[in-house]
Amino acid sequence: MNVHLTTGATVYTSVWSWIKYHMSLPLAVGVLFVGIPYSVCVVAQWFYGWPNKPGYKKYIEALKPRRIYCLTVAMLDLLKYLKYGRLYLQLKSWYKNTENCKHYKKGIVFGRRGNKLDLYHPPDVKKPEGAPAPLVVFIYGGAWGSGERSIYCLLAKQMAEELNAAVLCPDYSTYPKASNPNTCGNALAMVQDIADCLVWAQENGEKFHFDKDNIVLSGHSAGAHLCTLTLLFLIDAREELFIETKKQQDVALSIKGVIGLSGVYNIMDHYEHEQRRAVEYVSTMHKAMNGVENFQYYSPTHFLKQLGQDKLSRLPQFALLHGTGDIVVPVESSTAFSELLTSLSVKVTLYLLPGVNHTEMVTELMLSNRRFYHPIFSCIKQEFRKLLGAS
Ligand SMILES: *[C@@H]1O[C@H](CO)[C@@H](O)[C@H](O)[C@H]1NC(C)=O
Repeated sequence: MNVHLTTGATVYTSVWSWIKYHMSLPLAVGVLFVGIPYSVCVVAQWFYGWPNKPGYKKYIEALKPRRIYCLTVAMLDLLKYLKYGRLYLQLKSWYKNTENCKHYKKGIVFGRRGNKLDLYHPPDVKKPEGAPAPLVVFIYGGAWGSGERSIYCLLAKQMAEELNAAVLCPDYSTYPKASNPNTCGNALAMVQDIADCLVWAQENGEKFHFDKDNIVLSGHSAGAHLCTLTLLFLIDAREELFIETKKQQDVALSIKGVIGLSGVYNIMDHYEHEQRRAVEYVSTMHKAMNGVENFQYYSPTHFLKQLGQDKLSRLPQFALLHGTGDIVVPVESSTAFSELLTSLSVKVTLYLLPGVNHTEMVTELMLSNRRFYHPIFSCIKQEFRKLLGAS
């Protein structure tokens, strides 16, 4: 990290002295506050997507001062992720170290697209004559367009320890991989992958000594959205999953609860939040949802309102955790979802965690010495016991 910071500082100093010797002050200020933000934002939009306007109008929209300002703020915010560099190196080296293979089974291939999953053992795996441990299926986030299971190795290991459970962490086809011609849609492909992973769990409980009938689904951010949506598809036995109805029913019955961390549950609401931050066109979300026309189809909130009473009554309990310091997915996402669930008589517990932001909701769960490790895990533990006790 130090190396990077020093190089960063050197570059900064030399750019600044170049500006000082070659430009007048007003010109330098102009370059700094107008030229640089405009160039960077144009490149970002060129790379990630222009505004959705016809012809040249997209460039006019792209260059509006408010958009440039908001995008610059959003990009400066990304610099905060540099702070996680050390943690990243730490977890990458943990994952690579063969000595740690005793904690988990790595790289099991599952499902129709040949994705891989890692299965973390509960701490007392050495006495397999006891009752099999419950299973947590953890779905990572990454705005439907990024993420990989290795990054969550420490989280999964800690979760297995804290909850005395087996923890399964699958990869799924994120955008644009999910949009290859063999899949029928982006987020739908992700939902199918997660459903495949749950089918895998049904078929492999005995072999890997976990209780296939006691499963808790958990996910962070886009992962919370995807695991909630997958559960709803299964409860509704949707044919788009291309899984036999009987199998879907069995899988749905095995899910005893959902623990959503900083989740998105209403795509339209989240799109409006992205619009306020002017990141809606550079964001992967609308692409992964196949455009605004499909926002309702992919929203758990909309799905729930369509579900009949008999299916609603088969839904397991929910626990929603959200940090009040979250600006990526605002806390209203979880509060609104919790209100909706309550109004439909689905049991839900909501935890608003003071000061926790979007990233911390997962990074803090990776090492026991992190500031919010115990506060967040104590909520998860309490809910986990409740979800399994209710069955
Ligand atoms: C999250 O909050 C912590 C503590 O307030 C802060 O140090 C960190 O930069 C924030 N992370 C992001 C990505 O905003």
